Amino acid sequence: MSFSKKILHWYSENKRSLPWRETTDPYKIWLSEIILQQTRVAQGTPYYLKFVEEFPTVYDLADAEEETVLKLWQGLGYYSRARNLHFTAKTIVEEYDGYFPDTYEELIKLKGVGDYTASAIASISYQKPEPVVDGNVYRVLSRYFGIDIPINGSEGISYFKKLARKVLNSEQIRDYNQGIMEFGAIQCAPKKPLCLSCPLNQTCVALQTNSVDKYPVKLKKTKIRKRFFNYLVVVDKEGNLSLTKRSAKDIWQHLYEFPLLETSNEVGITEIKQQIPGILTLEEPHHIYESSDKMVVHKLSHQHLYTKFWIVKTSNRLKSGMSPADLEKYPVPVLIAEFIKTLKNSYFWDN
Ligand code: ADE
Repeated sequence: MSFSKKILHWYSENKRSLPWRETTDPYKIWLSEIILQQTRVAQGTPYYLKFVEEFPTVYDLADAEEETVLKLWQGLGYYSRARNLHFTAKTIVEEYDGYFPDTYEELIKLKGVGDYTASAIASISYQKPEPVVDGNVYRVLSRYFGIDIPINGSEGISYFKKLARKVLNSEQIRDYNQGIMEFGAIQCAPKKPLCLSCPLNQTCVALQTNSVDKYPVKLKKTKIRKRFFNYLVVVDKEGNLSLTKRSAKDIWQHLYEFPLLETSNEVGITEIKQQIPGILTLEEPHHIYESSDKMVVHKLSHQHLYTKFWIVKTSNRLKSGMSPADLEKYPVPVLIAEFIKTLKNSYFWDN
């Protein structure tokens, strides 16, 4: 039996029943694939369900406020994906009459749609013989064929795409593509793959050479950037707080946060006091203290944010001050959402 037939057979017996597998509607396939690039199936499923409930069609998503889309996306990270999602929904409505194009070449022109997503929509919705190559596929192919070209270099990217195209099953591409990804997620898992019960174990190069752990080969990652964030959490005499919207071309564009002082190193209260007048306009005397003696280290894929929250109590009345309940309506990074949660549970809101 060929490689692809074995994958198809495995898939027919092991596939999970998932909501986006009940449809071929390209809008829903696109939504699910964008979400699944961000997270695993278990965590992504509730997000998918929330999105299709709130926005059953591409028209509903196109009509939404960006803030509503960001709020629903909250917690998934990489917020430019959510902004691109919204942007592309509008493009589909305005330029494509509400219909997703049915070829890889047209699909890849859409904002936020790369090689993977274009192949996924073309194959799953329209049965076009386009191979998907995601992290699971890299792992399965590199192990089974014993390919040690790094998967994150340009040579590897083009090599694996060609290999994936060579071994695909064009008659049942919808199931084959989902099958190889599912196989990678469940059977040929990153850690503790189930080689003993694997239908491909007799011909798997990695297993036969006792080197399953060696694959896939990756080039060393770029260095993680360290950043130092100091949030100034201004609390007025009524216990109200205010948020500001991020606008710079940086992480979390268009999300909300507390006024931020970014420094090149960790700083203490003296430096914070010196810098405050450049950031906040508070006339009345205020009292500043660090909310915790521990820094929060928030890890993103390429940067680690060493974060301190400084409570700035003022007897001013904040112009755009809000109660904690109102704060929760805004799309915020998880780092901020968690802080708001701890604040809410503290003595603050009792007075
Ligand atoms: N990972 C991302 N999309 C998937 C799909 N459609 N099937 C299986 N695994 C996936």
